[in-house]
Amino acid sequence: MRNKRGTVVVNVLLVGGGGREHALAWKIAQSPLLERLYCAPGNAGIEEVAELTALDVTDHDAVAAFCLDKQIGLVVVGPEAPLVAGIADDLEAQGLLVFGPSKAASSLEGSKGFTKDLCTEFDIPTAAYRRFTDAASARAYLQSQAMPIVVKADGLAAGKGVVIAQTRDEANAAVDACFQGSFGAAGAEVVIEEFLDGEEASFFALVDGDTVLPLATAQDHKRVHDGDRGPNTGGMGAYSPAPIMTQALCDRTMNEIILPTVAAMKRRGTPFKGVLYAGLMIDAAAPKLIEYNVRFGDPEAQPLMMRLKSDLLPVLVATAKGRLSGLTLEWEANAALCVVMASKGYPGAYDKGTEIKGLDAARTVPQSTVFHAGTARDGTRIVATGGRVLGVTALGSDIAQAQARAYEAVDAINWPQGFCRRDIGWRALTCDA
Ligand code: AMP
Ligand code: GLY
Repeated sequence: MRNKRGTVVVNVLLVGGGGREHALAWKIAQSPLLERLYCAPGNAGIEEVAELTALDVTDHDAVAAFCLDKQIGLVVVGPEAPLVAGIADDLEAQGLLVFGPSKAASSLEGSKGFTKDLCTEFDIPTAAYRRFTDAASARAYLQSQAMPIVVKADGLAAGKGVVIAQTRDEANAAVDACFQGSFGAAGAEVVIEEFLDGEEASFFALVDGDTVLPLATAQDHKRVHDGDRGPNTGGMGAYSPAPIMTQALCDRTMNEIILPTVAAMKRRGTPFKGVLYAGLMIDAAAPKLIEYNVRFGDPEAQPLMMRLKSDLLPVLVATAKGRLSGLTLEWEANAALCVVMASKGYPGAYDKGTEIKGLDAARTVPQSTVFHAGTARDGTRIVATGGRVLGVTALGSDIAQAQARAYEAVDAINWPQGFCRRDIGWRALTCDA
């Protein structure tokens, strides 16, 4: 499609409505190749850069009809659930171009057992494991295992399907919870795996089925409280670059984990296209795969998009078209850091509909952007609608300056029912790497 000046441009539909999608929308909206950006369902922040649509994204026929009607040239799928449900396959079958893997390739996130078996077959370093489809065999296996041990629901469980059991009783209870339906169909199969010691890190790469283009390094904080304590969450903050991911470690991750996976998926006839996110455990400078995700990290995408100098849109198109070969990405040499503001009570129960003020004051902090996650507009008010609500992100010459700016913007926001961690980035600031 060409605009009035004759330049080739595209209309884009972005699927999702979290902080990751606001960061992607914010970056895509800056592209000179963009004609119109739509987002389903979006949020109050995304609304500033895209036209929101109330499409039911589980109805793939309705999404396809919308795309054909609006002449959408690229569909970018943010979250994992629609990918695992096969949205990319169904839209591609209608001739649409999609950034995001097929249903089969999404098994890398959709089934932990699938990924573990792939690791065994292709010699990819990961924790030792066994797969189970009934509680009795899983419990019998646990009798012979050392503690701690890790019990995982096989399927998607919104980050809640993993228990690190310190005792056999806890492990048995986790097995029973899965098979008794705590995670629905996601718990019909269970993976029990060895507990890995070390420091966690993330690795992201664009993959077009064949060519792999690593992104800048980034790291998140999963625990809810300062000092990385308390229950796991989707992520309470993130920063880029991540000092733990040295060039040597990135090279090992590529050679030992990412490239063998991409080659295996291609050889099996289910090539992976999209962004591959490896959750790693680093011990003695060696990476092991904890899990794959088939999408950008949230909140890692927020600092990554702020540091990305290159135009994102043509790279997403190239990934979807299988034409990544020869492309490179340019990153700002500086650092970015994102502090997540969440509703008090998260990751447990929390109130919805509380008003957030001070967003305009936060905008005055240099080089900062407030990405919205769980927000909606209610007349002139912005209200919180989810657990993770804002991703207050800033650039700086280093992590310390990015952190200072992000917290200055956080402190400008007036939202008594929200909270955040005060120590995002601490590992990077104490790391001598
Ligand atoms: P996952 O959903 O597989 O990423 O697991 C969620 C979190 O559980 C990870 O981010 C780790 O903190 C932890 N975890 C998962 N598997 C292991 C393991 N084998 N050893 C130690 N920690 C793990
Ligand atoms: N930040 C963790 C995730 O996106 O899964």
